[in-house]
Amino acid sequence: MVNPSIEAVDLTKCYNSFCALSDLSLRLEGAKCVGFLGPNGAGKTTALKILTGLIRPTKGKALINGIDVQEDKKAALSTCGALIETPEIYPALSVKEALMMVAEIRGVPSAARKDAVMKAISEVKMEEWIDMKCGKLSKGMRQRVNLAAALISDPMIMLLDEPSSGLDPRGMAEVREIVKGLKKKDRLIFMSSHLLSEVTEICDEVAILDHGRLLAYDTLERLTSALSVGNARECEASFSRDLSSDALKEIGSTEGVLGLKLVEPRRLILSFEGGNEAQERILAKIAGLGVGLIAFKSSSSALEETYLRLVKDSR
Ligand SMILES: Nc1ncnc2c1ncn2[C@@H]1O[C@H](COP(=O)(O)OP(=O)(O)OP(=O)(O)O)[C@@H](O)[C@H]1O
Ligand SMILES: [Mg+2]
Repeated sequence: MVNPSIEAVDLTKCYNSFCALSDLSLRLEGAKCVGFLGPNGAGKTTALKILTGLIRPTKGKALINGIDVQEDKKAALSTCGALIETPEIYPALSVKEALMMVAEIRGVPSAARKDAVMKAISEVKMEEWIDMKCGKLSKGMRQRVNLAAALISDPMIMLLDEPSSGLDPRGMAEVREIVKGLKKKDRLIFMSSHLLSEVTEICDEVAILDHGRLLAYDTLERLTSALSVGNARECEASFSRDLSSDALKEIGSTEGVLGLKLVEPRRLILSFEGGNEAQERILAKIAGLGVGLIAFKSSSSALEETYLRLVKDSR
């Protein structure tokens, strides 16, 4: 099986003298989820549109699995599903009918269409709504239909432009769960977002763009720790049970811990100094306390701090 890859080589898009994207070179490879961050107007949608052949670059190349999108769009995108500026779904069609139509347009052979549609519907957990008219669906549900449309033909690469934008908190959480589920199938996902908490929760790596230029591309861990050398680092610990005040005291007394913030009874934000060594020690200590530790990761506020610093420095 081919290792999925997305590559931009000196990708540039100019509108007259204004360049929305300048010399973007970025190679994403392997099954993972990469967050694409940047302020409004940074050029994220422009890059995603070029990568999916919706617009042509002024200069440079876009490659999907090594195939040049501009040279052979059909072959390059045959393993790629995208959610970028999706058109309104026909309101009079049911979810199943709408997706059958998408499958037909995409060239799925008629004998395989129903199966492809049902698989996509199951990935977005919409089995119960297949006969509902699209016009009657909530915005969140419609976005799930759009995701299902991107999933027809079971792509190994997904390009998503702000998949949860405009949705209420529940809709956002649902889309987030679906995107997390997409990772289980060893896909390469490249997703733009303004929600740093969403990116922290789902993504393994992050690319940051501003004024059409790439400011950083690295793993979430390295990005959030690189800027905190000598400074405090923040991590978030989640527990299956409420934390007792005794446990909190124990954690607080661990060498290197600078502060604790219990944001919810089962969610603790720790700031500490001492880099990876300290992180290893603190994690071992909490795990050893037997207080139901279920997750330990960089906190979204650590990403926010890194992001704001990088974007501010590029102004
Ligand atoms: N067709 C066009 N003609 C002229 N300028 C354009 C065109 N399309 C985009 N732009 C400009 O290119 C820049 C990058 O836009 P783009 O939509 O890629 O940003 P973005 O990072 O996706 O922003 P957002 O987070 O708001 O979605 C913006 O300044 C935008 O106004
Ligand atoms: Mg955009």
